Amino acid sequence: MCHACQHQIERRGPRVLAGVGIVTVERGIFLAGDESVGQALKDKTTGIAVVGFGYIGTVIGAVLADRGWRVTGIDVRPGVVEEINAGTTSVREPDLDALVASTVAAGRLSATTDFSAVADNDIVIVTVGTPLGPDFEPIVDDIESAAKNVAAHLRPGHLIVLKSTVPPETTETLVRPILENSGLVAGRDFGLAFCPERLAEGHAIRDLISIPVVVGGIDERSARAAATLWEHALGVEAVVVEDARTAEMTKLADNLWIDLNVALANELAMICDRLGMDALQVIDAANTLPKVNYNVNILMPSMGVGGYCLTKDPWFVQHLGEGLGLSLATPRTSRTVNDTMPAYTFGLVQRLLADQGKALPDSKVAVLGIAFKNNTGDCRLTPTKHTVALFEQSGCRLTVHDPWVTAGEALTVTQVPLTPDMEDAVEDADAVVFLTGHRQFHEFPLARLADLTAESCILLDGRNSFVPADVRAAGFVYKGIGR
Ligand SMILES: NC(=O)c1ccc[n+]([C@@H]2O[C@H](COP(=O)([O-])OP(=O)(O)OC[C@H]3O[C@@H](n4cnc5c(N)ncnc54)[C@H](O)[C@@H]3O)[C@@H](O)[C@H]2O)c1
Repeated sequence: MCHACQHQIERRGPRVLAGVGIVTVERGIFLAGDESVGQALKDKTTGIAVVGFGYIGTVIGAVLADRGWRVTGIDVRPGVVEEINAGTTSVREPDLDALVASTVAAGRLSATTDFSAVADNDIVIVTVGTPLGPDFEPIVDDIESAAKNVAAHLRPGHLIVLKSTVPPETTETLVRPILENSGLVAGRDFGLAFCPERLAEGHAIRDLISIPVVVGGIDERSARAAATLWEHALGVEAVVVEDARTAEMTKLADNLWIDLNVALANELAMICDRLGMDALQVIDAANTLPKVNYNVNILMPSMGVGGYCLTKDPWFVQHLGEGLGLSLATPRTSRTVNDTMPAYTFGLVQRLLADQGKALPDSKVAVLGIAFKNNTGDCRLTPTKHTVALFEQSGCRLTVHDPWVTAGEALTVTQVPLTPDMEDAVEDADAVVFLTGHRQFHEFPLARLADLTAESCILLDGRNSFVPADVRAAGFVYKGIGR
C-alpha cells in the first residue's frame, strides 16, 4: 500500500484508449490520470528502459523482464550490450544467469548502446555508477552524462526514476535542470523521482522483490506515479517520503547505519577475542533486548566490509557534513574500524601458526573466497584484497580459490593465479583461510577437508559461517572473528 497516495488526482492528462482487454496510454504514462497510470502499469502496456546495465541494472532489468515487462538495457559499454543480447551476463549473482537467458530468449530483455531507445519506453530507470573521488567526494559524472543522453530523447509523458546512490539534492539540482534543457518541464510534462536501490548482493533478486521501495518525487504526482510503478512492477510496498532529497538521504542513512553497526560488532569481536569469549553468543543474547519498537540488533563481525556501497556511502555522508561545516565522527569511525579488519584477520592466522611453532614463510596458506560477499563474484573494493596482500608479503606458500570469481576479476585482487580446484588449493595447507562463506565451501565435507590439509590445520572462519564444534570435531584448530 502506498503511503502517499492522497488521491488528489490531476485528471488533465491525455485520453486513455481502451484496447482489447487492456488500457493503452496515448502520450506517455506520466500524462495519464492516476487511475490510468495504475491500469497501464498493471497491464504492462509500456516498456522500461534501464540506463546503466551494470550490477544493479542487470538485476532490475532481468527481474522486470521476468515479471512480463519489455525491458531495454542501455549501457555505454558495448561488451555488456553484446553479452546481454547473447543471453548472458558476467554479473555473478545467484540465479541471475538463468533469468537473463530466459528473458532474452523470450524476447522481453534486450540491450543497446543507442539512447534513442529512451523514446520508445515511457519509463526510464537510471542505475549508472557513482564512485568515490580521491577526496572522498561522490563522482556524479556518469549521472550527468546519462541525464544528458536521456534528455536528448525525452518526450511528454516519460517517468524518469533515478536509482543510483547520490548525495542529497542531486535529483533536483543536477538531474532536473539537465532534463529540463529539453524544453519539457518536470512535474508537468514528465515525472521525476528518486528511488534508492536497497538490494544486497548475494541475494539481490530476493531483496528486489521483497524490500519496500523508498520514493521521493520532485512533486507529488511524480511520487505517486513512481510508487504505482513499484507496486505493480515488483509487488512491493512504496514508502513515499517528502521529496527526492529525503529519499537520497534515506539511502545514505541506511548504509551509514549498517557500516557503523558492523564496526560495533567488529570492535566487540576484538574484545571478545582478547577475553577468549564467543562474540556471537554475546551478540545473540544482547539482541534479545527490546528497545522502543524493535530489539537491539547488532550485526555480525567479519574479516571486513567491502563492495560498492558500504565502502563509499559513509564517506558521502562525511563529505556532505564537511560541506555543511560539520565534522562528523560516525562515518569516519565506521570506515576506519572496518578497514582495520583485513589486517586483524591476517594477524589472527599469523598468531595461531606461531602458537604451533610455525612461521608464515614455512607454511602453506590456502585462501578460500576473495569476492567481497558470500555467493557473489563481485571483487569491487573487496576487503579480501588487503588480507591476501599481507599473505603475499609474508612469504608463505599461498593458494587462492574462489568458485564465483573469474580469472580476470581475480587479477584485480591478487597476482596469484586462482587455483580452479578446491582440493588442489587446500592440499597440505597449514591454514585454510575462509574469507567468504560461499555455499560451495559449506557443501565441501569437513572430513574431506581435514584429510587433504596438514595435521592440526588452522581453519580461519572470516565470515563466522561455520559451526565451531563441527570444525573442531573434524580435527581443525578453529578460529572465527570474535570466537
Ligand atoms: N552494487 C550494489 O550492491 C548496489 C546496491 C545499492 C545501490 N547501488 C548503487 O547503484 C548504482 C549502480 O551500482 P552498480 O553496482 O550497478 O554499478 P556498476 O558499475 O556495476 O554499473 C554501472 C553501469 O553504468 C554504466 N554507465 C556508466 N555511465 C553511463 C552512461 N552515461 N550511460 C549509460 N550507462 C552508463 C556502466 O558502463 C556500468 O555498466 C551506484 O550508484 C551504486 O552506489 C549499488
